[in-house]
Order: sequence, then C-alpha cells, then structure tokens
Amino acid sequence: MAQASKVTIVEVGPRDGFQMEKTFIPTESKIAIINTVARSGVPKIEAASFTSPKAIPQMRDAQAVMEGIERRPGSAYTALVPNLKGAQLAISAGVDAIRVVICSSEAYNQRNVRMSVAESLKTCEEILQTGRAASTAVEAVVALAFGCPLEGDIAEEKVVELTRRLAEMGYREISIADSAGLANPAQVQRLMRRLVREFPDVHFSMHIHNTRGLGLANVLAALEEGIDAFDSSLGGLGGCPVVPGARGNIPTEDLVNMLEEMGVETGVDVEGVMVASRVAQEVLERTLPSYVLAAGTRQQLYRNIEEREREKSVTR
Ligand code: COA
Ligand code: ZN
Repeated sequence: MAQASKVTIVEVGPRDGFQMEKTFIPTESKIAIINTVARSGVPKIEAASFTSPKAIPQMRDAQAVMEGIERRPGSAYTALVPNLKGAQLAISAGVDAIRVVICSSEAYNQRNVRMSVAESLKTCEEILQTGRAASTAVEAVVALAFGCPLEGDIAEEKVVELTRRLAEMGYREISIADSAGLANPAQVQRLMRRLVREFPDVHFSMHIHNTRGLGLANVLAALEEGIDAFDSSLGGLGGCPVVPGARGNIPTEDLVNMLEEMGVETGVDVEGVMVASRVAQEVLERTLPSYVLAAGTRQQLYRNIEEREREKSVTR
C-alpha cells in the first residue's frame, strides 16, 4: 500500500483530553481552546461528547460548547456518542458528524456504556439510520482494538468481525482505536493491512494513545499500510480511566511536526496548535506532555539556539 502524501488530522483533545480532567473546565475556556486550535487549520475537531452527565461530568456542557464555538469554514466539528440519545442530542446541537463508540472488549463495553457488544451493535445501526435521516454523517469507533486493560489481549478476529458487522450495516468511516495505548507497530501493521484488504469500501482512520511512548511509531506503521487519518490531542492531553499514570493521545503538534518534516501534507500550522496547547496549559495550570511544545520545531530549535549563542557572545 502506498504511503499517503496527505493526512487528515483529527483533534480530539477537547473530548478525549478534557473528559479526563477532574476539575470542571469552564465552558468559555473549552470554547477558547477549540477556537484557537481550529485557527491552526485542523480539518476535523472532536469538540465534545454527548454522554450521561453522571458518567462523564466534564462533558455536561456539550451543547453549550457546540453553541458557543466559531464554526471555522474548513473544519468539521464532531462529537462522540455512546447511545441513541447522545446521537439525537448531537444532531440537534448541529454537529457535522457523529462518532459512535463500540468496544472490542465485552468487559470494557459493559463498563463504558452499560451495554453488551451485541446491544451496542444494535445501537450503531439505529444511530446510522438516525444520522441518515438528519443528513448527519456517522462514523464508528472500534475501541480497544489492540488490547484491553480489563480483558487483556484482543484477538484480531474480534476486531475484524466487529468491522464486518459495521461495514454490512453501511458504515464507511471506521476508526480503529488503541484506546489504552497497548499496540505496537508490528501489531498495527498486521491488523491494518488485513482490514484495508478485507474492507476496500471502508475508509479507516486511527485513534492512538501514547501510553507507552509508541504513538508515533504506530502512526508510521499505519501510514505504511495506507492509513491517512489520525486522531491526536493538543499538547498530548488525556489519559485512560483504567490505566493509572497513562499519558494521553499522541500530541497533535508532535504528529503534525513529524508528518510535515517527512513531506506529508497536513494543512495544519504546527505553531498554531502550540498556541492552543499553551492556552490549555494556562487553563489547566500544568505542563502538557508534548515534545515539540517543550523543544520547538526544527526551525524554532535552530532559532532558539542561535539566539542563545548570540546572547552569550554579547555578554562575553
Ligand atoms: N446524553 C445525556 N444524557 C444521557 C445520555 C446521553 N447520551 N444517555 C443517557 N442519559 C441520561 C438519561 O436520560 C438518564 O437521565 P436521568 O437519570 O436524569 O433520567 C441517565 O442518563 C441514565 O440513563 P441510562 O439510559 O439508564 O444510562 P446508564 O446509566 O445505563 O448509562 C450511558 C449508559 C451510555 C448513558 C453512560 O454509561 C455513558 O454516558 N457513557 C459514556 C461513556 C464515555 O463517553 N466514555 C468515554 C469515551 S469512550
Ligand atoms: Zn481515546
């Protein structure tokens, strides 16, 4: 499979990142961060999730966030949903696309959405129909496709079977998610190669967590299998509710920086993403785990060193 020359970056920090924050982030701050990252040119932003406020209290202002954000032409604003009610709320809030989540692991699906995988599949079918009736795009996210903190390793067959069921229902956009950050590049290569071959009508994207520092390596493995869309979070926001100490998604600036340096087009201004990450750092009052945010892009790094050397020669 040829490596893509253009990649779509999906900014998921405002959903996957924010949902992990214990202290409620004021709605205006969420809006400010989303608007700032949108200005960097990211073509798609997961702005919120429509979930039970008891399950995910941080997302209880999803509607207000959707109402308050600027809708930058060129950026699509999506929301994650666990059930039909969430899909209906997302549609009435005016999202450009819905992402419905279903887990490869029975135990995690139960814990996450209080449904069996079979019940979630039924929900996926209802949501696809609801989306079609409202002319809102619907995508599926197959979560924990590379391992589950509750169930352990996930058989490739399970992910293939879930994908088959979703494809048969009519899903054409499927995200394969390493939600706990358990994948390695060989595993990514194997599974994505198989999925791309078996489901030529489906466009696959990937959602990768950087729990064990393998995020960018996994992106590279997927790129080589022709995958051309990846989720990431500004500053590397996020974590995993059942993995203590887990870092978040791949930092968006690190992903954009790597791709652009490799000559893969993203349409995203890395410095613009870093502005958003700095706003997030101020709001959250902590340093976010992005490498590029700390050390700069290659050009910034050269500039910083040049300046420092100049200062040294002046004081000498
Ligand atoms: N949005 C907002 N409210 C919702 C909702 C949604 N999508 N789905 C259910 N609710 C409300 C119900 O109206 C009900 O409200 P009430 O107590 O005021 O009557 C309450 O939540 C419980 O509803 P119920 O259908 O019994 O849900 P549940 O308690 O079995 O929980 C989910 C199931 C799916 C709603 C819940 O587990 C959830 O929101 N999970 C989200 C998981 C998630 O986002 N994980 C991270 C991303 S993978
Ligand atoms: Zn995630």
